[in-house]
Amino acid sequence: MIPDKAPEDDVFHAAEEMRRGAHVPTFDTFKEMYMQSIEDPDKFWGDMAKDFFWKTKHTGRFLDYNFDTTKGDIFIKCMEGASTNICYNVLDRNVRDRKLGDKVAFYWEGNEPGDELTVTYRELLTSVCRFANVLKSQGVKKGDRVAIYMPMVVELVVAMLACARIGAVHSIVFAGFSAESLCDRIVDSQCSLLITADGFYRGDKLINLKLLADEALQKCTDKGFSLERCIVLKHLSKEAQEISLKSPPAKRPCPDLQNPSLPLHGHACCFSFVQQETETGRVRKTRPVPQVPWNPQVDKCWHALMADSSDECEPEWCASEDPLFILYTSGSTGKPKGVLHTVSGYMLYTAATFKLVFDHRPDDIYWCTADIGWITGHSYITYGPLANGATSVLFEGLPTYPDVSRIWEIVDKYHVSKFYTAPTAIRMLMKYGSEPVQKYKRDSLKVLGTVGEPINPEAWHWYFTVVGDGRCPIVDTFWQTETGGHVMTPLPAATPMKPGSATFPFFGVVPAILNESGEELEGTSEGYLVFKQPWPGVMRTVFGNHARFESTYFKKFPGYYVTGDGCRRDKDGYYWITGRIDDMLNVSGHLLSTAEVESALVGHEAVAEAAVVGRPHPVKGESLYCFVTLRDGVNYNRTLEAQLKKQVREKIGAIATPDFIQDAPALPKTRSGKIMRRVLRKIAGGERDLGDISTLADSSVVEQLFHNRCGAGE
Ligand code: WTA
Repeated sequence: MIPDKAPEDDVFHAAEEMRRGAHVPTFDTFKEMYMQSIEDPDKFWGDMAKDFFWKTKHTGRFLDYNFDTTKGDIFIKCMEGASTNICYNVLDRNVRDRKLGDKVAFYWEGNEPGDELTVTYRELLTSVCRFANVLKSQGVKKGDRVAIYMPMVVELVVAMLACARIGAVHSIVFAGFSAESLCDRIVDSQCSLLITADGFYRGDKLINLKLLADEALQKCTDKGFSLERCIVLKHLSKEAQEISLKSPPAKRPCPDLQNPSLPLHGHACCFSFVQQETETGRVRKTRPVPQVPWNPQVDKCWHALMADSSDECEPEWCASEDPLFILYTSGSTGKPKGVLHTVSGYMLYTAATFKLVFDHRPDDIYWCTADIGWITGHSYITYGPLANGATSVLFEGLPTYPDVSRIWEIVDKYHVSKFYTAPTAIRMLMKYGSEPVQKYKRDSLKVLGTVGEPINPEAWHWYFTVVGDGRCPIVDTFWQTETGGHVMTPLPAATPMKPGSATFPFFGVVPAILNESGEELEGTSEGYLVFKQPWPGVMRTVFGNHARFESTYFKKFPGYYVTGDGCRRDKDGYYWITGRIDDMLNVSGHLLSTAEVESALVGHEAVAEAAVVGRPHPVKGESLYCFVTLRDGVNYNRTLEAQLKKQVREKIGAIATPDFIQDAPALPKTRSGKIMRRVLRKIAGGERDLGDISTLADSSVVEQLFHNRCGAGE
């Protein structure tokens, strides 16, 4: 399927039809706008800011910053002096000023086909106001941190926007993370409240979220941090969800399907679950009943609180640089970093990138398959789309459940026009061939997007030809939790695409490629990808640890923001991200720190030392290959292997489960004792050509490790 051309020469142009009415219709327009954005950022962003509501206007420069550690502290400030509220801008402004109250904000599609809910902008605003009042009633104030650990339900959006409305800082933890990871994040950001749900289904698997949340809170207590309030959404009862988002709660009792006679505010109202039968269209399923423990001192029922709450809530006017949220991302030292984003710059940047990168039109139906627990969901399910008054699909389930056509079935069901997913999902679906895709029409699709890792040309071609029928431009968006929004990306009508290249910078973004000594390389070159100046959406600090922010991103090359990614520029000036150049792995589009996995492994009593490397994987991009040296007298066997996998899962989460664990009686080290990961990567990948290993203290170790390699046949 791949043409017989070097990817650099494989250029695709959007169809003429795409250009009609496009926000940025041609490459020349792009270049012109780009120059304006760099030469006069105040004017460029000032014009964008006019679309929003500001309680007070900004004074002075649009962006003020220092990126050079030798000249003082690193700082970035955007629109100083202005005050606004992001929740007001994404909801009230749409309902009141833009008359979009009856427009659908979300088509929620549950894990089970047929499980669905439609929520308009007005309904979303009402629920958010009501929940904002709930937060206030629980003592949450401006600046307080609120942990959110929820499945992909509309109430997750409600919870985050309610925080934003009252100026509280949300810290969302992906519901696939373990209790331990949740605990670490709660303690690090000193959260005063946790919002969670009873549980949810991922495909056939029940995730008993409340049990994990309870375990996390117990661990917090053990560490001397007490979080005393937890709001629990009863999601597994479908009726409960409809009541929470649709009916005026005051007129409906708190849902208790088994024991309607129980007192409304008695804690027992959240104990009971019915055996649910769900019509999937294919099979009829009976869902097991989860047991949800309840601690009346701590746990509060979402629905009972909502029933008591008013739907009027004046937004809290926030200064531009007030914190909006914290989101943790893996750090190369092992401890996750709390990336902090602030109100005005993030709002403008996610709104602008969403509008231009997806060429958003009012009648679009947009669908991003990411989880809101990651930055992609924050920026391109919640804030960016809502700021534009977009209609989105919010999907709880999996691309493979109940079968591998689910994605395309949903595309046809809602007439999705803009679709955004990860290369790992594309590669996984590609394995099943074109038939499951072609069973559905997909004629509503206009723009396809990818995010999370470099897309290999083969997957790009399949996405373009099979999914998009050769009609839809692909926006390969490069960005990071830290960048807040897209920083290198094509614009769908304007930019000629090359499969596997994130093409050019977005407006206001100035990339450079540096060599090891920090010199800027011109023309065709390869090296460290850095940025020379801020854009409104870039992170402001690592929560509680500004020194770490400075040392991680600015120390290596003073004057530049260092992404940690390698990059190549081709003869036409296109940028090609080559992947991480630090000790981070990208497994299915999720960044993992090797140090974090190693520390989970050595946490097991049998393990003396561990080294983790990435091994190329056809679907996940990279898989986790772990070398463990056991303590004297311990033997490696299947039981221990299973325990080690479990250990990592429990410490970090299922996404970090090792694919391979190899018993390594010794690790290849330099004479100064440094583990040679480069050599381990070759062993894991089965590559015999090891390069220069003259610095190895004992080269016989390598032969031994090659001999016992795992998964040699794969
Ligand atoms: C990688 C995800 C190549 C990159 C939004 C980056 C990509 C890390 C792309 C950030 C892309 C993301 N092409 N690589 N289009 N998008 N990456 O913080 O290594 O979860 O540094 O943010 O993902 O991952 P994060």
